[in-house]
Amino acid sequence: MPARTKRKPDAVVLQGLGGYVPTGVITNQDLESRLDTTDEWIRTRTGIRTRRFAAEGEATSDMATEAGRRALASAGNPDIDLVILATTTPDHPCPATAPAVASRLGLGPVAAFDLAAVCSGFIYALAQANAAVLSGQNRNVLVIGADMFSAIINPEDRNTAIIFGDGAGAVIVGAGEEGQPGQVSAFDLHSDGTCQDLIKVTAGGSRMPVNAGTLDADRFFTMQGKEVFAKAVEAMAGSSRTALADSGWNAEDVDWLIAHQANQRILNRVAGVLGIPPERAVLHLDRVGNTSAASIPLALADYASKFSKGDKMLLTAFGGGTTWGAATLSWPGITVTDPQQDLIERTTPCPSLQSS
Ligand code: COA
Repeated sequence: MPARTKRKPDAVVLQGLGGYVPTGVITNQDLESRLDTTDEWIRTRTGIRTRRFAAEGEATSDMATEAGRRALASAGNPDIDLVILATTTPDHPCPATAPAVASRLGLGPVAAFDLAAVCSGFIYALAQANAAVLSGQNRNVLVIGADMFSAIINPEDRNTAIIFGDGAGAVIVGAGEEGQPGQVSAFDLHSDGTCQDLIKVTAGGSRMPVNAGTLDADRFFTMQGKEVFAKAVEAMAGSSRTALADSGWNAEDVDWLIAHQANQRILNRVAGVLGIPPERAVLHLDRVGNTSAASIPLALADYASKFSKGDKMLLTAFGGGTTWGAATLSWPGITVTDPQQDLIERTTPCPSLQSS
C-alpha cells in the first residue's frame, strides 16, 4: 500500500466563521438588584451593558456545537480532520469536550482535543491549527473557543459577576496560498506562571480535589482585577508589536484591532499604546461581556459584515495562567450566516466611559 503523502501548503487561510450566544440576557439592572453595584459603575468602569447566560441544562458543548455548525456552513462544509476546542469550562473534568462536539457535528473519528489557556485560548488554538496545517499533518481544522463562566463565577462576587458572559465562536482554517485573503500569520505566544494566582479556580484539580468540605471561595473563579488590568494592557500591546513587526505591518496598516473583549478601558488603552485609532478597535463586550475563549471569534462574527476582503486585522488576547499572544490575519471576505447575531442588539459605545 503506498504511503500517504502529506503536501505542505504555502499558507493557512480562514475559510469559515460562526458564533453563538445563549438567549438569556442579564442586564446591569438585573445585577444592581442583587449586588452592591450600579448600572452606571459597570458601564463606566467596563463598558458592559448586558451579558448572556446559558439556559438551565445548557453546557459548553451545546454552544460549541452550534458555533461549529455555523462555521462549517459558512465554509461550505469542508472535510475536517482536526477539532481544537479552547475552553476553561469543559462539560466535565474528564474526558475532554472536543470529541463530543466533533461527534455531534458528524465529523467522524477525527482528532479532537481541548486546549486550556483561559481568555487566550482562541489565539493559542488558532496557532496550533496553523502549525498543524502548515506541517501537512492536517488539511482543515475546526477551531472553537467556547466558555460558560456562569457555571464557575460566584453570583455574589461583584468583582467577577458583572464581567463574564457565556458564548462560543468558531473558525475553519485550511490550506491556502501565500498572500491569499484570509491568510493567518505571525503568531506570538507567551505565558508567565509566576502570576497564576491572579486568575484562578482553586479547587477541583489535583492540588485541591473537591470534597464535602470545599469552601465556596475555593470552588468559584476569582480574579485580582486591578493587577490583571495592568498586565493585560502591557502584554497585549507587547505581543501585538511583535506580531506586527513579523508581518511587516505598522500600526497605521491595521484596519481592525480585535482584542480580547475584557473591558472597554483595556481595549482603549491597548489601541492607544499601539497608536491605533479607537474606531478601528472592535467593541463587542458591551452586549455580551467577557466571553473568555469565545470572545475573539464572537467579535469577528459580530463585525463580519463591516469588514472588507483583504482588511488587515490584528488579534490579541490575555488570560489566566497568565497567558497572552497576538496574531495577524487578512480578511477573507467570507459570509457569516448567523441569525442568532440578530439577537445581539447593537448599542453605541458608552460615551461616559472613564479613561483610567
Ligand atoms: N460595583 C461597584 N463598585 C465596585 C465594583 C462593582 N462591581 N467593583 C469594585 N468596586 C469599587 C471598589 O470597591 C473600589 O471602591 P473604593 O474606591 O471605595 O475602594 C472602586 O470601585 C474601584 O475598584 P477597583 O477594583 O480599583 O476597580 P477597577 O477600576 O480596577 O475595575 C475591574 C475593576 C474588575 C472592572 C477592572 O479591574 C478590570 O476590568 N480588570 C480586568 C478584568 C479582566 O479583564 N479580566 C479578564 C482578563 S482575561
